Amino acid sequence: MKFQERVFSGMQPTGSLHLGNYLGAMLKWIDLQKTHECIYCVVDLHAITVWQDPAELRQAIRQVTAAYMAAGLDPKKSILFNQSQVSAHAELAWVFNCVARLGWLNRMTQFKEKAGKDRENASVGLYAYPNLMAADILAYRATHVPVGDDQKQHLELARDIAQKFNNDFAEPIREMGYEDGIFFPQPEPVITGPATRVMSLRDGTRKMSKSEPSDLSRINLTDDVDSIAKKIKKAKTDPEPLPGEVEGLEARPEAENLVGIYAALAGTSKPDVLSEFGGKQFSQFKPALAELCVEKLGPIADEARRLMNDPAEIDRVLANGSERARELATPILNEVKDVVGFIRG
Ligand code: TYM
Repeated sequence: MKFQERVFSGMQPTGSLHLGNYLGAMLKWIDLQKTHECIYCVVDLHAITVWQDPAELRQAIRQVTAAYMAAGLDPKKSILFNQSQVSAHAELAWVFNCVARLGWLNRMTQFKEKAGKDRENASVGLYAYPNLMAADILAYRATHVPVGDDQKQHLELARDIAQKFNNDFAEPIREMGYEDGIFFPQPEPVITGPATRVMSLRDGTRKMSKSEPSDLSRINLTDDVDSIAKKIKKAKTDPEPLPGEVEGLEARPEAENLVGIYAALAGTSKPDVLSEFGGKQFSQFKPALAELCVEKLGPIADEARRLMNDPAEIDRVLANGSERARELATPILNEVKDVVGFIRG
């Protein structure tokens, strides 16, 4: 079966979003919105795989939704919603819990990083998290998934789950009229651009992340002009001037990171940035980068703050998006139930 191209992606409502989320994922989401049917989710079911304070979680769901809209995602064009309002995600995840193998999940590096040394004490949800992620995507038969580089392994797992489901249930799938036996598509990761892995501003070998204790390590989408400028000024660098060619960034992780950030924000490429700044010192490059950051992120922060003044409107957007999401997911989930052998009323 030829599947209609459809985009799905999501972000966790834990803490505020940062430059890595914006450059690694959201910029592509905005681009894809121009050409594709897109579904963008606030993945609250994923968030509770580690403890969340309920009142803070509610607030974070609204904040992420506000950031989506402020960055340019249009709820009239794309479907914006929070995961827990569409029960198909949890239902399909259960079926996938029974399709995926323990050995597959044991290989997931993100679980190992997040669970750390105290693995016995991690929630079962954190372990099964990639199965829910596969369900998010396949509940809509999404074909394209724009994400940062850190989600690559999870997407490979989603592809394995899709394939195993198609194989395990080959007979009922064909009986239902899928002549080629393909019930779920193989979702394609979209990991493109100059900033697929934005690194910490304090250490170019570590990923920029919400969980890093030092706030100086990341630029939050809610940061004001002064903090953005301060964080870039304090960003770790090396003593050399910028090279003229990308090869010169090898073994210079901090320089490579800042050049990638500049390129992504400016909508150009690393070679373009280096042809402008090659040979210049960081003392010249950093103020230009800070200015670009403020120019691009400032209006998003302002608009997100404005939207947060009307939480009821955000809740309406989410309710409306959830309804549209349910319309797409329910018929697919019903077919899954038939394929698996459940009885529906
Ligand atoms: P999350 O919430 O950790 O991150 C959201 C998106 O931001 C990207 N990202 C980065 N990109 C570049 N550099 C960084 N430093 C950086 N940090 C984060 C992530 O790759 C991601 O695209 N499991 C997912 C959420 C999810 C999902 C899905 C995504 C749940 N279901 C289905 C796609 C499809 C996560 O925790 O992302």
